[in-house]
Amino acid sequence: MPTNSPLDPPMDKALYVREMFAAIAPRYDRANRLLTAGVDEAWRKRAVFELAAPPGGRVADLCCGTGDLVFHLLRDDPSLRVTGVDFTGPMLAAARARAARHARSAPAEFVEADVTRLPFEDASFDGATMGFSMRNVVDIDATLKEAHRVLRPGTRLVNLDVTKVPNPIVRRAFELYFYGVVPLVGGLVGGSKSAYRYLPNSLTNFPDADALARRFEAAGFRDVRYLRMGGGAIAIHVGTK
Ligand SMILES: C[S@@+](CC[C@H](N)C(=O)[O-])C[C@H]1O[C@@H](n2cnc3c(N)ncnc32)[C@H](O)[C@@H]1O
Repeated sequence: MPTNSPLDPPMDKALYVREMFAAIAPRYDRANRLLTAGVDEAWRKRAVFELAAPPGGRVADLCCGTGDLVFHLLRDDPSLRVTGVDFTGPMLAAARARAARHARSAPAEFVEADVTRLPFEDASFDGATMGFSMRNVVDIDATLKEAHRVLRPGTRLVNLDVTKVPNPIVRRAFELYFYGVVPLVGGLVGGSKSAYRYLPNSLTNFPDADALARRFEAAGFRDVRYLRMGGGAIAIHVGTK
C-alpha cells in the first residue's frame, strides 16, 4: 500500500492516526488556537475564498476533524450545504457538539468515513476542502482521486496544509518551532506528547508544494496552483475538476 508514513517503527498508520486523534479530540481546538496564535483562522478564511463555491452548493470538508472549516464555510455562506467527513468518532462528536451550538447557521451534516473510500456518488459536490490533513492520510493519491470523483466538473478542491519552507533561514526558524515548541506545548495543552511529536514529523515525508501540485494533476485536476502564507510554511493548493 502506498504510504507517506513518518512512523518509526512502521505500523498501521490509519489505525495509529485514528487512535491518536481520538485521544486528543477533547482538547484539539484549544491546542490548535494556541499553537498558531489564532492565525489559522485567516488561513482558513483564505481557503474558503479560494473554493468559490456557488451559493446553495453542496460542499464536502474532507478530514473535517472538529469542524473548523465546516463552520468557516457556513459563516461565509449560510446557504451552503456542508458535509464534514472524518474517520475518528470523537473528532466528529466534537464537531456535532459545535454544530448544536451554532444553531443559527445552516445545519451541517457529519459522516464517519475514510476519505480514500468516500460513500458518495460521482459528481455529487460543488466543492471540497481539506485542512491540515493531507499529511495524515495513508494514501494521498487515493484521497485526491476520490475528491476528484465526487466533484462536479468545473468545481474545486482546496487543500490547506503545512508545507516545506523554501527559504533556508525561515525554514530553520520554522523547524525550531515546529519540531521543538509544538511537541512541548501540544503535549501540555493537547494532552498527548506522542501525538504532538507525530504531527510535526508527518511533514518530514510529505511532498513539497510543487510535488503536491503534480499529485493533484495526476489525480485529474486542472489549473492547479498554490499560494503560500505563514512565511511560506502554509500552502493552499487549488485544483479544478
Ligand atoms: C489535524 S486534523 C485536521 C482537522 C480539521 N480539518 C482542521 O482543519 O482542524 C486531521 C484529521 O484527519 C482525519 N483523518 C486522517 N486520515 C483520515 C482518513 N483516511 N479518512 C478520514 N479522516 C481522516 C483525522 O481523524 C483528523 O480528524
